[in-house]
Amino acid sequence: MTIICQQLSKSFGDPPVQIIHPLELQVSDGEFVSISGMSGSGKSTLLYLMSTLDTPSSGQLLIDDVDPAAMSVDALHRFRGESIGFVFQFHYLLPELTALENVLLPARRWHRHQEKLPWALELLERFDIVSERDKRPSQLSGGQQQRVAIVRALMMRPRYLFADEPTGNLDSINSKVVMDFLKQASREWRMTLVLVTHEPEYAAMADREIFLRDGSIVEERLHSG
Ligand SMILES: Nc1ncnc2c1ncn2[C@@H]1O[C@H](COP(=O)(O)OP(=O)(O)O)[C@@H](O)[C@H]1O
Ligand SMILES: [Mg+2]
Repeated sequence: MTIICQQLSKSFGDPPVQIIHPLELQVSDGEFVSISGMSGSGKSTLLYLMSTLDTPSSGQLLIDDVDPAAMSVDALHRFRGESIGFVFQFHYLLPELTALENVLLPARRWHRHQEKLPWALELLERFDIVSERDKRPSQLSGGQQQRVAIVRALMMRPRYLFADEPTGNLDSINSKVVMDFLKQASREWRMTLVLVTHEPEYAAMADREIFLRDGSIVEERLHSG
């Protein structure tokens, strides 16, 4: 098991309101899991907990058998940089950098941007934005910015990818390209993929669909093949 949530819960506010009720969830190496549920059901909160970006109010997360809460700040930073890709609803591209510079940023941190250049260009080509590589985010459409952010998340071939509505800004053709690519990457690289989506069609591409309601898992559906 790659990701283990043990009685994981999250509360916000004072007095605290429990947004994620203690839940058990295990994700295997290379598994593709989708999380669906109504707006406000806790999907993003759960994704933040599972991806080490937020800390649980109670219970424990184990990722690679390690509790991120027990890691040093440096070790956690390194682990995220090398092993985890994140795609958020808002892309957080750096405005002063070009599309290509933005996608190479994770590689630059480890002085691997020269080596990663062909891979960056290949991914930009796959997502039909290689011609936009020298533009800054403000010169790109919302959908192009989102694809740049997805390429950036895939640069280091992460072992984990956590994606929150990654196709939210994309037209149906680009959504399909991105989803097919993510699914293929989870198979070929054994990339563990946790996807939050409200599109039933994309949720059903997962090996396992999880449905959240009011901060609890209310249903799981397994898909084979
Ligand atoms: N940082 C926060 N502080 C207070 N309440 C929060 C915070 N983050 C999320 N919530 C609340 O938790 C609930 C679930 O939010 P969220 O996880 O974003 O749901 P979803 O992604 O399924 O739409 C919502 O009611 C939201 O207002
Ligand atoms: Mg959300």
